[in-house]
Amino acid sequence: MTVTNDTNGERVLIFDTTLRDGEQCPGATMTLEEKLEVAQLLDEMGVDIIEAGFPIASNGDFESVSAIAKVVKNAVVAGLARAGDMDVDRAGEAVRHAARPRIHTFLSTSPVHMKHKLQLDPERVLELVSRSVTRARNLVDDVEWSAEDGTRTEPEFLYRCVEAAINAGATTINIPDTVGYTTPEEYTAMFRNVREKVPNADKAVFSVHCHNDLGMAVANSLAGLKGGARQIECTINGIGERAGNAALEEIVMAIKTRGDVLPYHTNIDTTMLMRASKLVSAVTSFPVQYNKAIVGRNAFAHESGIHQDGMLKNAQTYEIMLPEEVGVHKSSLVMGKHSGRNAFRDKLRQLGFELSDNQLQDAFVRFKELADRKKHIFDEDIEALVDQEMGHAHDDIRVVALTVIAGTGGPQRATLTLNVDGREVTKEASGNGPVDATFNAIHAIVPHEAKLSLYQVHAVTEGTDAQAEVSVRLEQNGRLFTGRGAEPDTLVASARAYVHALSKLMQSRQRVHAAG
Ligand code: KIV
Ligand code: ZN
Repeated sequence: MTVTNDTNGERVLIFDTTLRDGEQCPGATMTLEEKLEVAQLLDEMGVDIIEAGFPIASNGDFESVSAIAKVVKNAVVAGLARAGDMDVDRAGEAVRHAARPRIHTFLSTSPVHMKHKLQLDPERVLELVSRSVTRARNLVDDVEWSAEDGTRTEPEFLYRCVEAAINAGATTINIPDTVGYTTPEEYTAMFRNVREKVPNADKAVFSVHCHNDLGMAVANSLAGLKGGARQIECTINGIGERAGNAALEEIVMAIKTRGDVLPYHTNIDTTMLMRASKLVSAVTSFPVQYNKAIVGRNAFAHESGIHQDGMLKNAQTYEIMLPEEVGVHKSSLVMGKHSGRNAFRDKLRQLGFELSDNQLQDAFVRFKELADRKKHIFDEDIEALVDQEMGHAHDDIRVVALTVIAGTGGPQRATLTLNVDGREVTKEASGNGPVDATFNAIHAIVPHEAKLSLYQVHAVTEGTDAQAEVSVRLEQNGRLFTGRGAEPDTLVASARAYVHALSKLMQSRQRVHAAG
């Protein structure tokens, strides 16, 4: 029988680092507006701590942490800092307006990091731990200290560092598995030992932070709880450096589903997990693996005859969680072209979207256009449409019209009209295929140096009239800008995705310019 025991057991704090460790992975850069959207959803979902960014990393990071600090209502907002004074001060400044601010400061403690990365001896590291935490505590009451590469740190030295951090005022101690090296048994034992050997350990909450290099991040995180940790650092869809971080949705559902062996509970509204997964995937253009646990497209699909037969007799034969618990609803046919605005608004609410009147009006116009061209409109079509409407709201470049001549006799040609900062410009270009011709036309209208580093297409639903969802990533000076577009016409979707990425790139230039 399915055991659902989500209100029993001890409370575990969920610390989401999608906007910091998640965003740190190549290609996952988000705009300020996208970060705000993600932060607000995390807050609504019941995340306890939102790590909003690394304020010293850039002006953009600082701005987004302080903007998030101002809008988040319930969660603690954390800013990351290395041990230097400037880092700590900048983090303190960025979270200053949060209702519940936290500074999260870290320093490497393993022999390999101290010797090669920091080039500092252990005694100096110990001094810096006390100094950085003390400085942070002078700015905020809530300070977290992390021992970077903690799982490869010599135990005796780790105990001394943890003791020093707590003495200096740290209220949370995080011991990360920075390189994804530990195993569940080892990680449990490490927390047990630290809590036993450090004299002031009872004055802090212990935290896990696991990377997935060996595919054990979730198992290790849960094992940390067994050793006494009560905070888990994780990301939506498990995005993060290299193989990623522990996936929030997997941790939360493991705790919820296996209360018999994991006697804990979290504050997460699990029915919002799917929405959060889709939003993070959309704003980063990182696709979610089809067979990904909890939020993958196939996570609740039963294909084989034997499984389907069992499911028809009793869902518990093959289902350990209800799809509705994680916000998966049976895809339903929605309205057609005769559906009115109220029905459309109700559908959006059902799918979890709250739009302003203007956004609703624009989305409704696009829905009507789509309904004229596509016979059956599904939930996924509406989600893609709204994502696009919200995602493109701040674009300075927009696609007005596109005509493409394609076929066996190349070169293919594209005639494109873009609205650039309110002015319409039309150009024609040829290329090696219709997509190449379209992108060359964009280049002719808006000359730029950026290189195309990703072009990806997938169908939103089944059928030959399905909308194509296109992701484009542009790279310039090591920075990556991702755009997306959804349309029944793959080429129009491609053009929209490209100009979306280009708009972000242009806006970031203006920001750097203005800041410089
Ligand atoms: O993986 C890691 O060690 C980190 C720290 C900065 C907490 O991300
Ligand atoms: Zn990390």
